[in-house]
Amino acid sequence: MPLMNLSGSKWRLVLSALLVCAVIFELDAQEQRTTPGRTPKPSKAKLGRSKNKGPRAATAKPKTKATAAQAESLLTQVLNRGKFKKVGETISVQTGNTLELRCRGKPVQWSVPPYLEEDDDGRLKIVQHERYGALTLVNTTGADTGEYTCYPMYCEDTDCRKEYNKAVKVFVFFPDPQELFVPSSAYYEVIQLRTNWPTVLPCQVTSPEAKVTLHREYPPVEVAVDGTEISFNVRKGFTIHRPRPYHAGALYCIASLGNLRQSSTKYMLIYVNYPMAPPAPVIYASSSSVTVGENLRVSCSVMGEQDVVIEFNWDYPGQQIGRPLYTQESISPVSGGPARQQSQSVLLVDEVRDVDSGTYICTAQNLQGAKSVSTIVKVVPKAKANKPGVR
Ligand SMILES: *[C@@H]1O[C@H](CO)[C@@H](O)[C@H](O)[C@H]1NC(C)=O
Repeated sequence: MPLMNLSGSKWRLVLSALLVCAVIFELDAQEQRTTPGRTPKPSKAKLGRSKNKGPRAATAKPKTKATAAQAESLLTQVLNRGKFKKVGETISVQTGNTLELRCRGKPVQWSVPPYLEEDDDGRLKIVQHERYGALTLVNTTGADTGEYTCYPMYCEDTDCRKEYNKAVKVFVFFPDPQELFVPSSAYYEVIQLRTNWPTVLPCQVTSPEAKVTLHREYPPVEVAVDGTEISFNVRKGFTIHRPRPYHAGALYCIASLGNLRQSSTKYMLIYVNYPMAPPAPVIYASSSSVTVGENLRVSCSVMGEQDVVIEFNWDYPGQQIGRPLYTQESISPVSGGPARQQSQSVLLVDEVRDVDSGTYICTAQNLQGAKSVSTIVKVVPKAKANKPGVR
């Protein structure tokens, strides 16, 4: 039987880390900048956009006898008057115009920016022909900017799967004369900065020509982008390669092109102390044998890195019949050791009864994982000799 809902409680851990900042943002959101002409998309589009929901690399098995694999896959753009052009890493298509891509293969599958996949408004058409797949997107806007990928399919009878290693992708810009940034529904986006975990600020521009800079709100300064600590990629946005606490705060991007200058969505960067390892709890009962009517204390403690939140959960014998549970949680710094702390949860059982006899399990969890420890407590009846006159 699972001791706890791991994913749920993991989320709570993150939330507790974010809570303080969230309050600040709420206040902040009321005085938001609005970019003129920006049309917010439904929030689901935003959600889709914000994450690399792209296909996860499947285990690429060596394909020996695949005939389809031999077929050279090739992505071309169909231009006006039936002209074809082999695409490179990026292409630009004027907004309003039609994007038409062809990918050699039988069959092929496509992946498009998540927002397009979710908001099917009839502008996207995908057709499989005898020797190639065709993707057509009409009435394009800056919001369609993103990665378009063709996957040749490997088929055995009717069972087909994508050949991830043969995928051909092209990043398509739709330069929008009014919108330098790909529109976003959110006024701000909360991004976690984790220790040693590259973080992307996805301020995606619609034009590869736009000059993009990174800015901090308070104090209002331009953030230096040196290409090492922070780098910029026109297809991705800014990447903070090794986040540190001083990177946290409210940041946004500014794009300029010609005489247009626009701000992106705001990114609220929150530094989360990421633990190196799951916690190693130690459990200790005040006594392994308690007499009915006495009080019992079971403590569970974790020695860990400073500012790493530990969540405790208890399983105990009286749980089924709804014995009330009292816990006291505390955090104390550890003297001597650098940046360490002891987190502790104490389970208090007042006036022990027979039902409290059994195994006490403490589960400690941090963002890296959970570990349970247990101890057995025996409840013994009161000695008859101690209760004269009671029958
Ligand atoms: C594209 O735009 C034209 C002109 O505004 C409109 O008539 C047409 O229905 C649109 N097509 C789609 C598929 O949205």
